Amino acid sequence: MKLRTIDNIDVRGKFVLLRDDFNVQIVDGKITDTFRIEQSMPTINALRSSGARIAICAHLGRPKGTRNQDYSMAPVAKYMNIPLIPDCLDKDFMKTMKDGDIVLLENVRFYPGEEANDPNFAKNLATGFDIFINDAFAVSHRAHASTVGVAEILPSYAGKLLASEIEHLSAVMENPKRPLLSIVAGSKVSTKIGVLKALAKLSDKLIIGGALGTTFNYALGGKVGNSLYEADQKDTALEILEYAKQNNCEILLPLDKGVAKEFVPEAERTNKDFSEIEDDDIIIDAGEETTKRDTEEIRKAATVIWNGTVGMAEWQPTWSFGSFALARTIAEQTLAGKLESIVGGGDTVAALTACGVKDNITYVSTGGGAFLEFIEGRTLPGIAILEDK
Ligand code: 3PG
Repeated sequence: MKLRTIDNIDVRGKFVLLRDDFNVQIVDGKITDTFRIEQSMPTINALRSSGARIAICAHLGRPKGTRNQDYSMAPVAKYMNIPLIPDCLDKDFMKTMKDGDIVLLENVRFYPGEEANDPNFAKNLATGFDIFINDAFAVSHRAHASTVGVAEILPSYAGKLLASEIEHLSAVMENPKRPLLSIVAGSKVSTKIGVLKALAKLSDKLIIGGALGTTFNYALGGKVGNSLYEADQKDTALEILEYAKQNNCEILLPLDKGVAKEFVPEAERTNKDFSEIEDDDIIIDAGEETTKRDTEEIRKAATVIWNGTVGMAEWQPTWSFGSFALARTIAEQTLAGKLESIVGGGDTVAALTACGVKDNITYVSTGGGAFLEFIEGRTLPGIAILEDK
């Protein structure tokens, strides 16, 4: 896919509406992970040094079309040290803007017209701007006013981050170095059916872990105790196993699990294989044998695509064992030049950060849902509209 990029456009003195994804986690007014903001900086810096007058449009959380200060962009503006415009439709700030100036608009989801992609709202948002640039890969799977609506009104381009995401993800999907090992984990089969099928078709081997893996084990008659799994996804799991077989993809399911009697970070950990799991056991992490096998598989692979942690990676150190072992092995192999690694999804990227290996991965995507939909081969509306035909 060829996109219209900002490489050869003249932005000096122009009013640029820049869509970024600053949907970051904020705890007590502080941003806990600035990855998405840092990844947006190359476009912001390039536009500033080229003399654009920039207003960043972004969302935070799901305020459902109402003004709710709990979802204010203020902590982001503070972190970036730029002015916050309290209403995304107020254009007064333009009167005093000089070349290279930048502001952040308040949460665009405070208006119901945003998610409804209301044409009037999009028109009001676009008013006064000369150019629209989308650098928000992570929200480009949403056909909203600030991703699609304004792109239908203004001359529109892909920012550097968005272009880089497409380039890296397309390369691995179109021409991966083999053997290709995919690792998909997380909690729900129902949200990952598409990606599981797409990766079963593309990959030589597919590890299915986390609660997702538990559902597959359950579908095959394994004991799962009092754990998180989806009984109603049994047939889907069996169908995916059959689909993988038809596509010559070897599926690797959990062999054993780290379990406890209580679902709390300080719970005592026992390692059990599926035949030993009791009715009151709760699966919280991948087991030791599973982790040993999975890290060996990573060492045999030339490409790894990873989405989803295999346990409660945020409950360190007891329950991060499985996810951190995967993260460290992927990073080690990548650093040694033996592996191309692609990682996406908020929790997975947080695990890379927590064990200090994020910089040793070939490509870390800023996308969560967008990453999954792209891998699945779906058309992302915010990107399709930027295609250079
Ligand atoms: C994300 O965090 O994945 C994106 O910002 C999209 O958020 P949404 O799922 O609330 O649309």
